[in-house]
Amino acid sequence: MNLILLIFAITVLLILGLLTMASHLTIKINKDLEGEEKVDEEGQELFENKKSLSSTGVYAGIVISLVTLVFIVYYYFKDTMYAGHLHEYMNIVVRWMHITFGIAWIGTSFFFVFMENSLHKNIKKPELKGDLWMLHGGGFWFVEKYKVAPAVMPKGVHWFKYEAYFTWLTGFALLFVVYYFNAEGMLIDTQKWDVPGWVGSLAAAGSLVLGYAIYHFLSLTPLLKKPLLFGITMFLIIVGFAYGYSTIFNDRAAYIHVGALIGTFMAGNVFFAIIPAQKAMVQATKDGTDLDPAIGNFAGLRSYHNNYFTLPVLFIMISNHFPSTFGHEHPWLVLALLSIASGGVKHYLNLKEKNQEAVWVMPISILVLVSTVFITAPVPVGGKCEEISFTEVYNIFQERCVSCHSSSPTDDVYTAPPNGVVYDTPQDMVKLSDKIMQRVVITKTMPQNNKTGITPEERDAIRCWIEQGSTVD
Ligand code: HEC
Repeated sequence: MNLILLIFAITVLLILGLLTMASHLTIKINKDLEGEEKVDEEGQELFENKKSLSSTGVYAGIVISLVTLVFIVYYYFKDTMYAGHLHEYMNIVVRWMHITFGIAWIGTSFFFVFMENSLHKNIKKPELKGDLWMLHGGGFWFVEKYKVAPAVMPKGVHWFKYEAYFTWLTGFALLFVVYYFNAEGMLIDTQKWDVPGWVGSLAAAGSLVLGYAIYHFLSLTPLLKKPLLFGITMFLIIVGFAYGYSTIFNDRAAYIHVGALIGTFMAGNVFFAIIPAQKAMVQATKDGTDLDPAIGNFAGLRSYHNNYFTLPVLFIMISNHFPSTFGHEHPWLVLALLSIASGGVKHYLNLKEKNQEAVWVMPISILVLVSTVFITAPVPVGGKCEEISFTEVYNIFQERCVSCHSSSPTDDVYTAPPNGVVYDTPQDMVKLSDKIMQRVVITKTMPQNNKTGITPEERDAIRCWIEQGSTVD
């Protein structure tokens, strides 16, 4: 029965893939045909921008189908032996897409900020803000930036928006794959907030909407025009959310939700501010009317926010894999320091590109980063140790760890050993003793969400065993 369902899922995916390819093919052919026929006075190729509507539909269709498929597959395989396996592949695929779209988005963002900051003034053409020669991929490139807009609306203008939308959508899907599908194990910390998984997931996802609403309305106030004050306010709000998350959720989940919140601000900026402003610009150009500069300025400021969000958001995403960050006693404080430091690095880079080098910004940012290393340094735990026998420690591992960390795990979620870590033999335990110290004793991030109910005394026994040289007798 399960095998049939698996085959069914794969077939649906294949059909979806073929459909996508087919639709791309037709879009491309249409474009080529139209392009050949129409050429303007300057010999530039013209083609009607029919592509955008059909491709928007195709892309939206793909996303909706994929998300639906993920849900269907998840509920079919929920309590079967395939659940863990599928879960892992879903994680890989969605993560891969998320990273790819994210690179495309942040890459274009960096590139456009670079171009803006590096423009050369062109005095011969007053309508231009500047131009720039570049060499890349074996060719010369020449880019001109207009002060406002060209006199006539050109055809086939490329918009940059799908990178942002898909980064957000795949990121949101990843929240489901990693946290909400297994909320009891990954999101909920019963000692902080004891609710069913779906309640926690709903609160977590809902907080993104609430956070964005706060940010959006704040940016409609006069505060928006005062970048420093706005920055400080936003920083406090973000730290407030970080604190809130860490008091109700598992610490790792708390971190990623701060990242997701900032990611939501960024994608929301594109969707609710930047793209609407660009549409207004295009419309004004088509109508030949004057554009209200306030529209462009508003979008410009929101785009400027995104620029500052990039490095902190990347840092938060990565920190999710490093328990000394979220495993700290006050995880939100570590997160605040990391955000300030990485935001500072971005500030320095921005100033430098504009030739306004401010030498003090970089050292201070680095100093904050280094201070984080000190703050998160492990404190010596526990008191004196009794002589610990290996058998004692071995039994703790059998009871608390091997349900996940063995070559054939018995855990309901992890059907393959997480990170490839197994404790099948005594040597496996000895080999990894420094990591065990880090995860079980210092950061207490293992067992995962303390699913197997390890006691403080058992953690201490493991510490003593390692301190006594992790020997096997
Ligand atoms: C419920 C399942 C589960 C249990 C039980 C569990 N772990 Fe883990 N462990 C994981 C998962 C999932 C990961 C990978 C994610 C992460 O690093 O947080 C992991 C990662 C680790 C790592 C990091 C490996 C690396 O490559 O960085 C160590 C060390 C570890 N576990 C040790 C232990 C020890 C020791 C125990 C028992 C005291 C234990 N785990 C119990 C699920 C579990």
